[in-house]
Order: sequence, then C-alpha cells, then structure tokens
Amino acid sequence: MKYTDELRNAAASIGRLMDAVQPVPAPRPSLTVVGTGIRAVTQLTLEAVAAMASAESLLHVIGEPIQEDALLAINPNAKTMTDLYADGMERSFTYEGMVLELMAELEKGKRTVAAFYGHPGVFTYPSHESVRRARAAGFPARMLPGISAADCLYADLGIDPGDGCQAYEATSFLMRSPPVDRTAHLLLWQIGTIGNWTYESGGYDLSSFPVLVDVLARIYSPMHLATLYEASFHPRGKARVERMPIAHLPSAYLTPASTLLVPPAA
Ligand SMILES: C[S@@+](CC[C@H](N)C(=O)[O-])C[C@H]1O[C@@H](n2cnc3c(N)ncnc32)[C@H](O)[C@@H]1O
Repeated sequence: MKYTDELRNAAASIGRLMDAVQPVPAPRPSLTVVGTGIRAVTQLTLEAVAAMASAESLLHVIGEPIQEDALLAINPNAKTMTDLYADGMERSFTYEGMVLELMAELEKGKRTVAAFYGHPGVFTYPSHESVRRARAAGFPARMLPGISAADCLYADLGIDPGDGCQAYEATSFLMRSPPVDRTAHLLLWQIGTIGNWTYESGGYDLSSFPVLVDVLARIYSPMHLATLYEASFHPRGKARVERMPIAHLPSAYLTPASTLLVPPAA
C-alpha cells in the first residue's frame, strides 16, 4: 500500500472516531488556530483534526509533504501559506501577510482554521497575532494546543522541565543577555537562523553563532556538554541527538530545525 493511501485510511479512521465524539463545530465566521505536531500525522490531536475537517477555509504553514498530504486528506480545501515566504524578505513581512490572509477569510464569513506545525503558540508570531486581531475585529477566535519541538525534546532526551527550564529564541538571547540560572536547563530555539531576520531558502549566514558559543562558554565552561537536537518530522524517522562540549559547537551542522539544550551545570 502506498504511503498516501495509508494516510487516507488513517484520516478516514480518525473521521470515524470524530463521528463518535461528535465535536461541536466552531461558529461561522470564526478563527481556530491549531498545531499539527512535529512528527507528521501521528502527533495530530483529535480536536485539531475535527477543527480542520469542519473548516470552510484551512490555511496552513506546514512545509512537510507527508503532513500536507494528510491535511488534504482531512480537508480537500487545505491551502498552504508557505508561498508567502520570499528569499531575502524579512520574515516579519511574511507573518503579516499570513495574518492578513486569515483576516480576509474571516471577512468573507468563513469558518477559518489556521494550522501551524508543532504547537501553534510556541515561537510562532502569526498564530498569536491573528487570534488577537480577529478578536479585536469582533470575531470569535481560539487556539488549540499541539505537540511542540520542546515536548518531543523532553521525551527523546528524558528531561523534565519541572526541574527548571529557561527557553529563549537564540537571536533575542544574544541581544538581551538575560540572566541565566545555571541550575536549570537552557533551551535555545532558532540557533540555525541566528542573527537573520530574512528568509533564505539557500541557507543562512551563521557568523553570529560563534558569538553565542563564546557567551555560553563563559556562562558554563567550554567543556560543559550541550545537546543539539532535531526531532524527526517523519513518523518513521529518528531524532538527531548530538552531545558535545560547548567549545565544539561551532563545527556542528545546524539547520533551521535545530534546537540547543544546555543542561544544568550542577
Ligand atoms: C518558528 S519556531 C516554531 C516552533 C514550533 N511552533 C513548535 O511548537 O515546536 C522554529 C524553531 O523551532 C525549533 N524546531 C522546529 N522543528 C524542530 C524539530 N524538528 N526538532 C527540534 N527543534 C525544532 C527550532 O529551534 C526552530 O528553529
């Protein structure tokens, strides 16, 4: 059986489950923002599937082909907003374009759903902003949680954020120099795009990364072990987990999906 057929079967089974639960569809017009998880298909929540299935307009920012196929199987009207990204353009302009597209669907009176990968409220500007703007314009709007990269990291690396966990976007961490609690975990997001405000499909200039590494080496020590982490986007894939001394990080291979975990020093 082809993988897409398996996906359609899975979507049909989920549909039957939803029929049994009979969720109440959101009013029209309204905005529901959902997360689709990191690992394609398998981390969709039932309430996100129900919202997407009943959407009159389903706009998404996924970028993972298997997940996009699954969304089409759930709702044939699914349409990507990733074409709003353009090389060299500030990502904040693209995010504004996404918010405007969602608002335009609401103005047309549609039951609108926006789907973002991971948790839609974790390091994702257009999701929070579209909920804010929809409410300000008088439309009902809500956000449903999803499984974020941090959730996958806790599971794959066996750490408990309850032991203490600080999380920062890498560029903002460099610019703000917040006080760091060395007895807690430190999670740094977007290290693979550090220092870049624009979208670059051909790869990012990571010349600021060694500056971040110097800062971490001073806070901890150059030999303190950190972990580069990438959860698999593929349901049958394995996470990338690379543990190395902070001093070795500049030679590590980074991608836009890399997250850095620095465990407590004590
Ligand atoms: C714009 S944020 C989106 C996060 C997403 N909303 C979530 O809930 O995980 C992008 C950053 O999330 C992290 N990220 C995204 N995918 C990841 C993955 N597969 N494994 C580890 N971290 C990931 C990386 O730090 C990446 O730079």
